[in-house]
Amino acid sequence: MKKISEKNSADKPIGVFDSGIGGLTVLSEIAKLLPYENTVYLGDTARVPYGSKSKETVVRYAFEDAAFLLKHDIKLLVVACNTASAYALTRLEKQLHIPVVGVIRPGAKAAVAVTKTKKIGVIGTEGTIKSSAYTKTINTADRGIKTYTSACPLFVPLVEEGWTNNKIALGVAKEYLSEIKNIGIDTLVLGCTHYPLLKDIINKVMGNKVKLIDSAEATAGEVKRMLSESGQLTRRKTEARHKFFVTDSPERFIKVGKKFFGVRLSKAKLARLEGN
Ligand code: DGL
Repeated sequence: MKKISEKNSADKPIGVFDSGIGGLTVLSEIAKLLPYENTVYLGDTARVPYGSKSKETVVRYAFEDAAFLLKHDIKLLVVACNTASAYALTRLEKQLHIPVVGVIRPGAKAAVAVTKTKKIGVIGTEGTIKSSAYTKTINTADRGIKTYTSACPLFVPLVEEGWTNNKIALGVAKEYLSEIKNIGIDTLVLGCTHYPLLKDIINKVMGNKVKLIDSAEATAGEVKRMLSESGQLTRRKTEARHKFFVTDSPERFIKVGKKFFGVRLSKAKLARLEGN
C-alpha cells in the first residue's frame, strides 16, 4: 500500500470520483465519518453510465477522472464507482503516486465478516457483475463462500428519477431479486453507488433475515483506517469544505444530488477532462 509521505499533506483534500451522481452516497458516508476532511468530487455526468460500457472504455475514463482530481492536489483517491473499481482499481493503484481506495474490497470484506451460511448475493451493474470482482475478492478471503450475482441495470435510472420507494421500484426489485431470494442467501452486497438509496425496497423484498451490505459505508471505514494508519487525518477541527465538479449539467447534478448529499450541495462547476 502506498504511503502519503509529504510534509503537511494531511490537510490536503480527499478526491472522490464516480460516473455521475451516485458516488455521492460514498462521499456522504465519508463526510459523516470524517467531518473535518475536505473533499473534491468529480462526477462524469457527460459519460454516465459506466455500467454498460466495455472494460477498455471504463479504464480510460477512470484514468481521465483520476488525472483531473490529481490536479487538485489530493492526498488519497476514492473510486466511488463500483464499475470503475471493478475494472480499473488495480491499474490505478499501480500507476498513481497516492493511495487509492475502491469500493469492492471494503464491501466484500464486510460481507465475508457477516455471512453465517456462506451464501452471499451480489447485485450491481452489468459491468461489475461481468467482471466477477466481488466474487473473486470474496473467494480470496474465503474459498468456501458461494456467491450468487445479479445485474440490476434499471435500479440506476429509478434512483436518478427519485423513484426509490414506489410501486414501480418495488415491482422492478421483485423481478430482479426473486431468483437470489429463493436461493436462501443471508447477506446481500449492494454493489452499486445507487443501491443504498433503494435499501427500504430491497429490504422489503429480501426480508429481515438478509443483511444488506452497503459498500459506501464500508468504504468510508476503509478511508478512515488508511488515513489514520498513515498519520494523515487532518488536524484541522473546522467544518470541511466539499467541492463538486461535473462534466455536464451542473444544475441537474445539484438538483438530483441533493437527494444523496443534502443541502451542502449547492454549487458545482463544469470540469473539462483531458480526452473528454
Ligand atoms: N456508479 C455506477 C456504479 O457504481 C453506477 C452508474 C453507472 O452505471 O455509471 O457501478
